Amino acid sequence: MDSQNTYWQDRAALEWQVELGVTDAILDAPLDRYDLEPAPAKPAAVAEPTAPVPRPEVDPVAVAHAAAAAASDLPALAAAMAAYEHCEIKRGARNAVFADGHPDARVMIVGEAPGREEDRAGKPFVGQAGQMLDRMLAAIDLGRAHVNRTRAVYITNVMPWRPPSNRTPDADEIAMMLPFLHRHIQLADPQIIVLMGNTPCQALLGQKGITTLRGNWTEVLGKPCLPMFHPAYLLRNTAAKREAWADLLSLNARLKT
Ligand code: URA
Repeated sequence: MDSQNTYWQDRAALEWQVELGVTDAILDAPLDRYDLEPAPAKPAAVAEPTAPVPRPEVDPVAVAHAAAAAASDLPALAAAMAAYEHCEIKRGARNAVFADGHPDARVMIVGEAPGREEDRAGKPFVGQAGQMLDRMLAAIDLGRAHVNRTRAVYITNVMPWRPPSNRTPDADEIAMMLPFLHRHIQLADPQIIVLMGNTPCQALLGQKGITTLRGNWTEVLGKPCLPMFHPAYLLRNTAAKREAWADLLSLNARLKT
């Protein structure tokens, strides 16, 4: 290609670019920007060290007291418990298990905590122990869905969330849920309270040792209260059904007074 030819070709290319609006030549040589090394990342700005902000001390029991006291009915109490964030057990649970049965029942039964089935269903005592409990109640013509309201029961637990591996709630966990349980009893206002096993006795009576506590009527918040063996214990220790039957008869007799 002779130089004359190149001149006219270069000139035509330049005129074409001017026609497109090019006004300035920036570099002497063309630059393929798609072929460039990526620009090195800018160093991240180093944050100025800040003084740690002191977190206000929270008393989980005081928070529970305030939340429970503010609940004016059972649905509000259920919502307040579901919103309570200070109990670690809640983190591993699928559902908050509040209660089942008839809220106006004469008998309120308090268990320990939901197990796997209860956690799934969101209802207390629906697994094997729950079926055992239903059979025990039916033996004295009581039931959570009894057609006759005077024979209906209302069922809840100390702990509304399933503890990991079904472990027993510890003393701190029980203490933080106790204001909710007290309020639950006040709002449901049963005539009689039945405590199933050690954990509700620890929570409401401040005592453990169900073998000596069971069968002995006592009081909780001014209401007659009967500690009994937990139905799960009866499934493992069938010989203890004898005492459980005596306690059921005692409960039935009390309901007739
Ligand atoms: N055991 C309990 O104490 N409560 C339940 O809800 C289920 C099993």
